[in-house]
Amino acid sequence: MSAAPRIVRAADTAALADAAAAAILEAAQTAVREHGRFTIALAGGATPASTYTRLAQSPFVDAMPWDRTWVFFGDERMVPPHHPESNFRMADERLLSKVPLDADHVFRMRGEAEDSDAAASDYTKQLLDTCPERRGGGMPRLDLVLLGVGVDGHTASLFPGSPAVRETFRPVVAVHAAAAAIPERLTLTFPVINAAARVFVLVAGPEKAKVVKAVLADRALTPAGMVRPTDGELRWYLDAAAAALLPR
Ligand code: 6PG
Repeated sequence: MSAAPRIVRAADTAALADAAAAAILEAAQTAVREHGRFTIALAGGATPASTYTRLAQSPFVDAMPWDRTWVFFGDERMVPPHHPESNFRMADERLLSKVPLDADHVFRMRGEAEDSDAAASDYTKQLLDTCPERRGGGMPRLDLVLLGVGVDGHTASLFPGSPAVRETFRPVVAVHAAAAAIPERLTLTFPVINAAARVFVLVAGPEKAKVVKAVLADRALTPAGMVRPTDGELRWYLDAAAAALLPR
């Protein structure tokens, strides 16, 4: 039985970035202390950008164990890495290009691949090779998964009604997300998300207040509501606007 989510309220997006960066640092230091490495899956979209920028600044950038950190992605649009809509591009511009990370410690989902199923299989192997700990069904256990939430309740590229939401075996799949501007995507699935030691969901902005209430107060059956680490910690980082409809 997974624990209830811990809700962290921040005054605004700057405070959310500060709180999330501090939490990522704490997770990294704990993971390295406990098993010598820190594996993280970065979220895409716009919300995490300020957190990535903050993590690349003092005091976090100097304290992070970059030499013991391995970076994955929660999902990627099927576009080349330099494409404006690439999740890798955003993370690279805000974080990866600004910190002392070995290139072979960053595992990009190959959005440029012709065969997205093959790209999903390749990524699965990289996850399995880099994350030695296993959980249910042989799932690789990431130390931290960062996620965002769409107004429709999707998370990563797990959209309402998508067969990928019901995936129980594969850690990574290729999806066709009809509702998305860029429908062809690669995504982590719930078995690997919920095998993580920690999942931090970052949500900001008034447009997200309704979905935050639906997931956290009304327990609506959305993909974002299915994020429940089996034996890990779940935190939702919300700015005041996104938390506006939650009971105090
Ligand atoms: C993506 C993300 C997606 C994102 C939500 C929220 O590739 O689009 O993985 O799940 O987190 O759509 O996006 P915003 O942060 O831009 O609102």
